[in-house]
Amino acid sequence: MSAVLYRGRLLSFYRAPLSVDDNDSYLYEADGALLVEHGRIVACGDFTAVRSASPDDIEVVDHRPHLILPGLIDTHVHFPQMQVIGSYAANLLEWLDTYTFPEECRFVETAHAERIATHFFDEFFRQGTTTAVAYLSVHKASADAFFAENLRRGSLMIAGKVMMDRNAPQGLLDSPQLGYEETRAVIAQWHGKGRNHVAITPRFAITSTPAQMEATQALAREFPDLHIQTHLSENLAEIDYTCSLYPEAIDYTDIYSRYGLLGRKTLLGHAIHLSDREADAISEAGAIAVHCPTSNLFLGSGLFPMKKYQKRDKPVRIAVATDIGGGSSYSMLRTMDEAYKIQQLLGERLNPLESFYLMTRGNAEALSLEDRIGTLEPGTDADFIVMDASATPAMALKMEVVKTLAEELFLLQTLGDDRSVVETYVSGRPMKPVATM
Ligand code: GUN
Ligand code: ZN
Repeated sequence: MSAVLYRGRLLSFYRAPLSVDDNDSYLYEADGALLVEHGRIVACGDFTAVRSASPDDIEVVDHRPHLILPGLIDTHVHFPQMQVIGSYAANLLEWLDTYTFPEECRFVETAHAERIATHFFDEFFRQGTTTAVAYLSVHKASADAFFAENLRRGSLMIAGKVMMDRNAPQGLLDSPQLGYEETRAVIAQWHGKGRNHVAITPRFAITSTPAQMEATQALAREFPDLHIQTHLSENLAEIDYTCSLYPEAIDYTDIYSRYGLLGRKTLLGHAIHLSDREADAISEAGAIAVHCPTSNLFLGSGLFPMKKYQKRDKPVRIAVATDIGGGSSYSMLRTMDEAYKIQQLLGERLNPLESFYLMTRGNAEALSLEDRIGTLEPGTDADFIVMDASATPAMALKMEVVKTLAEELFLLQTLGDDRSVVETYVSGRPMKPVATM
């Protein structure tokens, strides 16, 4: 693949912005260029400088006046829930039993898993999301379909066959032994193939027996570099039920600690209702609380105290995610709009620079992958997107009065969606699907 120069307004974060005026936290080039070759970013900076250091006959793709940003990262989604999104339920446990578990049973069928996999990658790329961390179904067929499709698409994806051996329909249960063996088989077959990463994925303590948690612990010991993902403290009734199943544990977080599952690569979906003790334990382990705002509002689960967690003496590391299909939008822009509103209700501020940091570099840091994704830095993978803050008539009208970069980002977050994504580049290849219906 020969080198290509992409011209536009570049935005990439160096670190978390401390305020809406923290201009040292990011790189912004008003007339910038990205030099991309063999799926990697080779140079990033002022257009004239990068152009003059490039071959004379270099192809230039001109994306002015749009923004060029790192591809967005979604740290918690459910691959088998694309047809669950928008299901009418009173709360989490009713939603799981009534819609989610029955739908996930369908992923025993390879043809169904393969069909949904094509929709999955189309939809995420349409929204500008180039990396997702996904729960698959319990069936190995769902892992094979997902990872095979991603091998064709070329994105960096982290995903795991869900382990669950109780409190769900028979068609969704493995066993301690089967869950262990099939997870090992998925790791052997897919981890490190292309840009596929496998995550160890016990669904949550309600659907795993103590024996299965021990099997999960064995996997975590055998594969210490792998990510681990599970759910924690999403809903008050869920917390009560979970604690009744593990009476020896001090609290919900302690269940995962006891099985050695808390570490810097552990992603804890939701983690809304943590006690101080739990927040301390998570902070000390360096595990991540994954905030899923549209899901928390849709299922009525609660208001995630993001700022409270960040401002503690022992801060909790944070990531952000859609949680499709409990979440109600595939768009990380829509997701951060709801995250902003949740902080408003809690009397806190989430500034637009921090939102864009979280969707890009922040989520990459949460995954310990900032040397590969989440920035426009030379040497990293060429996953980047082009965004237009005037994509709709209403946005264009508002843009007439926008004066600063932070205001433009806030407009993208407040009114933007897939229409604002002009192009999605994955490993340097344009991958935004053309809408067909
Ligand atoms: N807890 C256990 N499984 C799930 C799930 O699929 N979605 C959500 N939101 N919470 C869960
Ligand atoms: Zn989830």
